[in-house]
Amino acid sequence: MHGASRQFCVNSDRLKGEEMDLDNILSELEQDGIRNDKVQSDRTLKYLNITKDTGEFLRVLALATCSSKILEIGTSNGYSTLWLASSIPPDGTVTTIEYSDQKAKEALSNFERAGLVNKIALLQGDAQAVLKNFSGQYDFIFLDADRSKYMDMIEDISRLLKNGGLIVCDNASSHESELAEFMNYLKSQKNFITSLVPVGKGEFLAYKS
Ligand SMILES: C[S@@+](CC[C@H](N)C(=O)[O-])C[C@H]1O[C@@H](n2cnc3c(N)ncnc32)[C@H](O)[C@@H]1O
Repeated sequence: MHGASRQFCVNSDRLKGEEMDLDNILSELEQDGIRNDKVQSDRTLKYLNITKDTGEFLRVLALATCSSKILEIGTSNGYSTLWLASSIPPDGTVTTIEYSDQKAKEALSNFERAGLVNKIALLQGDAQAVLKNFSGQYDFIFLDADRSKYMDMIEDISRLLKNGGLIVCDNASSHESELAEFMNYLKSQKNFITSLVPVGKGEFLAYKS
């Protein structure tokens, strides 16, 4: 790339401008999530958001990989989606899938408040079924849903990830045994290069070469 100018994938002034309002919404959701999940005994009503340092890590990864087409499985109220959507170019898209109707409604409201609704396609439904009808190629796939279903979705996830794309899977340390089969499968694939990163609840990265 000597002599050639590198095109920046995100206009940094725009990102800073977005972050002014976004920072407040992200801190509000971070606090709400902690408060709600402490008192809520029904697991389906917990938000189970990523940690703030995971959000920062996702942002760095999305920017460093110049990702503009991201797929997220497990939206909850949209906390992680906002980190991702604010880290892609203006014409980029995060497609995010959430099973719960109530959480999808809350996520949509948060996307509107953050002014990022135009960069997010929210689908309400079971990701396993939804992915079957998906085509195209994603730069980045973030997994944060029902861990017991990842092996059932692995063929579709691999098919939808471009060569040179990245899978990021949350809870790789906090729920290591539940994810062992999935992580071992990707580790055993010749076209995937993997790494377990001790950020937040443990992020398992799989790069498709
Ligand atoms: C850990 S939470 C996601 C948290 C979110 N990524 C964040 O950090 O803000 C997992 C979410 O995945 C959803 N979910 C679980 N299984 C799913 C499936 N098969 N399809 C779509 N969503 C699913 C749950 O309803 C829940 O809201």
